[in-house]
Amino acid sequence: MPNDEAEQDRLDLVHHMFSVMLNGELFLAPVENPQTILDLGTGTGIWAIDVAEYIFPFKKFPCKRIQLTLCSQFPSAKVIGNDLSPIQPSWVPPNVEFVVDDFEDVWMHDRNYFDYVHARTISGFEHLDHNILITRVSCVQDWGRLMKQAYDHLKPSGYFECAEFVIDAFSDDGTFKQDSPYREYINNLNKAGEITGRPMNVATSLKTWMKNAGFENVTEVVYVIPYGPWPKDPKLKEIGRWQYVQAPEGVEAYGLRLYTQVLGWPESEAKLHQALVKQQLRDKSLHIYGKLCVVRQFSLTIPLQVILLLTVAQDMWSMVGSVERNERKKSGARCLESM
Ligand SMILES: C[S@@+](CC[C@H](N)C(=O)[O-])C[C@H]1O[C@@H](n2cnc3c(N)ncnc32)[C@H](O)[C@@H]1O
Repeated sequence: MPNDEAEQDRLDLVHHMFSVMLNGELFLAPVENPQTILDLGTGTGIWAIDVAEYIFPFKKFPCKRIQLTLCSQFPSAKVIGNDLSPIQPSWVPPNVEFVVDDFEDVWMHDRNYFDYVHARTISGFEHLDHNILITRVSCVQDWGRLMKQAYDHLKPSGYFECAEFVIDAFSDDGTFKQDSPYREYINNLNKAGEITGRPMNVATSLKTWMKNAGFENVTEVVYVIPYGPWPKDPKLKEIGRWQYVQAPEGVEAYGLRLYTQVLGWPESEAKLHQALVKQQLRDKSLHIYGKLCVVRQFSLTIPLQVILLLTVAQDMWSMVGSVERNERKKSGARCLESM
């Protein structure tokens, strides 16, 4: 993946799309007040920066003043974002640290150290630094090993969450033709992945790999991402608007070097084909959608709110019971009196 400004803007746009998808939240895992967070392949660092400033839900109050008073120790979490490429900003919240590191190497952090490890769209193919291809290919070669490292470096109570796009597209009304440029493009990406031994289409395997790494209670959520604002549902429509902008921008970012260096296409032909792909993605009569898989553990502990609710319900039930008993006693007394 290139790391030029256009690509960085696209990554920030995808970040916003994620935020719409997750209803404004930054993750799905039931993490509570984590103190140590690791973001693998942080990119522009936008997620790490947002999470460092994040007020965890139980600390959210409508009144900012009360919130700040009650959360004066916040942000207390230390957030580390790693990447091969040092493209992150230097003006960041004091609890964020960016490190240049290869997450496929042995992790330098202590074992049982993190409360939460996050990995979002880290599969890719190549790494450009100031437009020069560096020899190290930057995608995940061994997901099993990566997840095992996450498992070992998480505290026993910690959470791992991983999100990847399915490298495929779907349509329910036949507008996505099998002989169209975008279908060919998807097939080519997946073919190039097979050739390099680094498959791209990993999203649907993440859950199994997580379980194999030792994680328990693993669950998967699949999100639908329309390409364009064609759905009726307002939320999907909004996601579609963002995808309509970012998907054509990502075509060369993901595909150009794969076409030329792995599949052996001449650059001019690769560019021409990818121009047709972009043209197809901008066609508003096309009703296609992609999928995104988010895998994570779920918590087996009952949330505090549920416990409180049950306690209140129990109290009310026993109050009703005692009122009834009193009534019965009184009526019994009245019966006795009337005898
Ligand atoms: C598609 S970007 C996603 C960035 C970020 N996770 C986000 O969601 O905005 C993938 C990032 O992973 C980084 N990356 C890929 N392989 C890596 C590796 N082995 N070690 C560290 N970073 C890596 C790339 O440099 C790139 O910045």
